This record gives sequence, structure tokens and C-alpha cells, in this order.
Amino acid sequence: MAAIELSGLTRRFKDTTAVDAVDLTVEDGDFLVLLGPSGCGKSTLLRMLAGLLEPTAGTIRIGNADVTALSPRRRGIAMVFQNYALYPHLSVRQNLSFPLRFAKLTKEEKQQKVAAVAESLDIAALLDRKPKELSGGQCQRVAVGRALVRDPQAFLMDEPLSNLDASLRTSTRQELTSLHRQLGATFIYVTHDQVEAMTMATRIVVLNKGRIEQVGTPLDVYDAPASVFVAQFIGSPAMNLVPATVTSRDGTVHLVGEGISVPLWEGETEDLEVYLGVRPEHLRPLTPHESGSAQVRLGCQLTHTEHLGNEEILYGQVAGTEVRIRRPRTGQAHPGPSAPERSADLTFALEHLHLFDRKTGRRLVWLPELAPSTAAEGSHRQPVLPAAV
Ligand SMILES: Nc1ncnc2c1ncn2[C@@H]1O[C@H](COP(=O)(O)OP(=O)(O)O)[C@@H](O)[C@H]1O
Ligand SMILES: [Mg+2]
Repeated sequence: MAAIELSGLTRRFKDTTAVDAVDLTVEDGDFLVLLGPSGCGKSTLLRMLAGLLEPTAGTIRIGNADVTALSPRRRGIAMVFQNYALYPHLSVRQNLSFPLRFAKLTKEEKQQKVAAVAESLDIAALLDRKPKELSGGQCQRVAVGRALVRDPQAFLMDEPLSNLDASLRTSTRQELTSLHRQLGATFIYVTHDQVEAMTMATRIVVLNKGRIEQVGTPLDVYDAPASVFVAQFIGSPAMNLVPATVTSRDGTVHLVGEGISVPLWEGETEDLEVYLGVRPEHLRPLTPHESGSAQVRLGCQLTHTEHLGNEEILYGQVAGTEVRIRRPRTGQAHPGPSAPERSADLTFALEHLHLFDRKTGRRLVWLPELAPSTAAEGSHRQPVLPAAV
């Protein structure tokens, strides 16, 4: 297989720019997931890659070859469609050999090819069955196998799990991951489901309105979202984002706001309007014995609790914005409606603080990313604002 390179790839429909100047390299063997809300341009991007839709501008290269003008067949890319599109009246063997019907191979060569593909996908025992005699996961394998007989450079999949029920979705996710490992092939997979992206991708491309917001491993995008959009799109419940201001006071840079006090470092700065971001699992109420001494404080009005069995989500208001706290079940019995409103100070460890420029929505470089180098010099709290990434 070969790397796939998109540059300036654009597609307009009348006044809609569905895909807007996308630059992206897909490495050989990637399980690349294109993730974004409905209408962000995922299918349009995939269809251009497959050669089913002509770009308005930009190029697609596979290996060293410019394939932008090539027909789908000649690109060596296989699209695995959502409903798998198996022929119901044909056996698995006939479904697998169907794409080879015009290939310049002898009958024996075609049979060998089908046998080898069936072997590699663990479906050799199913060759004489009809699709209706297969499970969902097996259908998926046959669909992939049908693409595989043509030795594609990459597999493209557009929301292949969206028609499945929840339990089948989980098992098919595992199937796809192991299939990817086994084949070592490049997969490009479209979904709006963050769980699919987090669980299967080697790299995630987050798309918003036809543009790339961030490219990174699942943990990259979770731990250091590049924008407010990514921060809110990945993680459930979503990251808490509270408007605040970075300002200097008495030689110290603070994050301040209504009920908010977060000392950051010694020094001066120009005021900057930001969103303070902290994930629900990193936020917690102060314990009574901490409440005198804690530096990081968010004054909160707790409103209600959702019990999920193993954990609970506390809801509250900080500076007029809803926040969510996620924590293991506290073990207390909570019969009936949740506890009445009460005020509490919340806190979090500074290493879990995310900051976003409120004007641009972009992430501001902050301690976790810089800690290894700055900590080595013993000056842990470098004033690193406002370098947006
Ligand atoms: N054939 C088309 N004609 C006009 N507009 C289209 C067409 N295909 C897609 N679009 C528009 O392009 C945008 C991106 O669509 P799409 O790529 O299908 O998004 P996604 O797959 O992420 O849901 C949407 O605004 C959609 O309405
Ligand atoms: Mg789509």
C-alpha cells in the first residue's frame, strides 16, 4: 500500500463549500477516522477520494501518482458501502469473485484469489452460504473481502455501523480493529460517533464545516483539543468551558471571573478573554478540610445529580454557565429526586486546565504541553500565553 496525500482539496456545491482546502496525509497502514457532525463534509471528502465525485480544486496523490483525474476503478481504492451491498442470491464465494469477473485471470487464478482472501478473513468455512445465513460481522467480512480481491491501496468506509444496534456495533468495532491489524491495510473511515473514532482510530481527523480542526491520535485530541469545537465534540459529558479572564494582579497572573480564582504564575500579562476548560472527571468539590487553603476555586451552585449506577454526574452553575462533574458513585443512597440546590467551591489540578482564546476558539499553549522542557529548568510556571495553536 502507499501513502495518500490530499492537497488543497475543495468541493463546492453552488453556494455551499462542503470541503474547504483540505491538506492531509494518510500514512500507509493508518486507521484514519474522519470525525465530525452531520453535514461537515465527511462523505464528500471520502467520495472525492474514491473518485465518485470530482473536486472543485486540489489534488489527490497515491504513492507518487496524481490520481485526481483517474476513474474509481483505476485508483485501486475500495469503498465498503454502508449496507455492505452483498448480492443476496449469490453465495459468499460468488460474492467474493464478483469483482474479478472482468479481470484477466484464469478460472484457477480467480479461485485461488478468493480462497486466499477467505482464508485471511477467516470466512473460508462460509463460502457456500448465502448472505442471509451470516451474522452482521460475517457480512462485514465478506464485504471487505469483496474489496480485498482487487488488491486495493486503501479501504474507504462511510458510517458502516450506523444501521446496527448497539451490541452489534460494539462487536463489529472489535472486528474492524482486528481486521485492520490483520491486514495491515490503510483504512479511511467516516463517522459522526466519537466512540467509534476513539476506539478504532490510529489517527483522528476532526472536521468542522469542511475544514480540519485537528489531526492526532485519539489521546492527542482528548488530552489537548486544538479548539473549543474539538473540546466540545470529544468527551461525554463534554468538557466544561467557563468564560474567564487572564489578568495580572500584585505580580501574579491569575485566571479570574465571577466566583473564579485560579493563580497561574508569577509575572505580568496583558488581559486576555479566555474559556477555562476542565473535563468533568477532573473537576470536584473541595472537601471541608481543604476549603481554607485551596488556591484553585470555582464558586458553584450545584443543582442536581444524575445517577448512572457506577458513577454520577453532578450538575451546577459557575459564572452563569452549566458545569458537569463526573465521579465514581459516592455510595450514599439517593432515593427519589436529587438533593436540593447548594453552593460549593469546586477545584481541579492545574495540569488539567485547558485554555482557549475566546475570540478565535483556538487552544492556548499551556503547562501540560510545555512541562517537560520547562520543568527541567526548574521554572515550571512559564508565562506561555498567548501563543495559540
Ligand atoms: N450533491 C450535493 N448537492 C448539494 N449539496 C450537497 C451535495 N452533497 C453534499 N452537499 C452539502 O455539502 C455539505 C457536506 O455534506 P456531506 O459531505 O454529506 O456531510 P457529512 O457526510 O459530514 O454529513 C452539506 O452541507 C451538504 O448539504
Ligand atoms: Mg455523510
